[in-house]
Amino acid sequence: MNILITGGAGFIGSHIVDAYIRQGHRVVVLDNLSSGKRKQVPEQAVFIHGDILDGKIEEIFEREKFNAINHHAAQISVTHSVDNPVHDAEVNILGSLKLLQLAVKYRVKRFMFASTGGALYGDQETFPATEDHPRQPTSPYGLSKLAVENYLPYYQKTFGLATVALRYSNVYGPRQDPHGEAGVVAIFCKQLQRGERPRIFGDGEQTRDFVSVTDVVQANTALLSSDLSGAFNVGTGRETSVNDLARVLIGLAGTGVRPEHLSSRLGEQRRSAIDGGKLAGALGWRPRMPLEQGLLETYDFFRYQL
Ligand SMILES: NC(=O)c1ccc[n+]([C@@H]2O[C@H](COP(=O)([O-])OP(=O)(O)OC[C@H]3O[C@@H](n4cnc5c(N)ncnc54)[C@H](O)[C@@H]3O)[C@@H](O)[C@H]2O)c1
Repeated sequence: MNILITGGAGFIGSHIVDAYIRQGHRVVVLDNLSSGKRKQVPEQAVFIHGDILDGKIEEIFEREKFNAINHHAAQISVTHSVDNPVHDAEVNILGSLKLLQLAVKYRVKRFMFASTGGALYGDQETFPATEDHPRQPTSPYGLSKLAVENYLPYYQKTFGLATVALRYSNVYGPRQDPHGEAGVVAIFCKQLQRGERPRIFGDGEQTRDFVSVTDVVQANTALLSSDLSGAFNVGTGRETSVNDLARVLIGLAGTGVRPEHLSSRLGEQRRSAIDGGKLAGALGWRPRMPLEQGLLETYDFFRYQL
């Protein structure tokens, strides 16, 4: 297949690029490098330095005749979305709509959208959340993902574009940006490797569902080659507290430091876990990476990135 991967120089996108290339697909990466890195895109992929909001990208569609779009480019910071919801909506809603319009115009068959589980379900009523859990985002970032999800069935019904939303939980693994605010695993790894104490917001008993990027890639390869459409959770269903996460990583660092607790962040979700059973039932996808092993691989990756 000829596939466009937006955000393919970023953390998750670049791993998907690697996997699609390994499977023999032709891959074109479109990324403005606002957080992604050129060196994360393998040589076998065609790299285009460009912005999803730029009208000039139509030329790429005209030339390439893509079979599928895997859309991972986004403004990913919840804090930034609160501070600047207009910019968040421009990138995440309008940027996605422009790609959907181009997909229809140039007869792309399949559109895969990187959505979110945690930020979409908001303060969960049931654990782990299944896909029919009420979607009640508490941030503009979650709202922008919800807005795009709401457009997908319209494009599918009206234009026959097969659309899929992958609702990720907290993805972790090599290449995650440790300088941002989102990747707590990457942040703790870096803090420990600098000899600092991991800094935890609040009491640390807030929970997250940590899914390895290798499992996320498997979901993306399985869904690319299927004819399924709709929304799918991509998570483990397991809650891990931030304290437990810090404990495992401190063990890997072998330093015996104690985490430092800072005041809690306003509006932070207390618990989050999503159920991947729908994707398991449909395609046999399961999260296979044990958390401890995934954390070890991630810790080792950052050890060589100092
Ligand atoms: N990391 C997670 O835990 C997680 C959880 C849920 C959803 N997601 C979603 O997965 C996707 C990838 O996230 P990530 O963690 O790999 O983040 P990332 O920041 O590493 O990747 C995003 C990529 O998009 C690029 N980009 C941003 N704006 C762009 C624009 N206007 N035009 C072109 N390129 C642009 C960036 O340079 C970057 O390479 C995002 O859509 C994000 O919302 C991530």
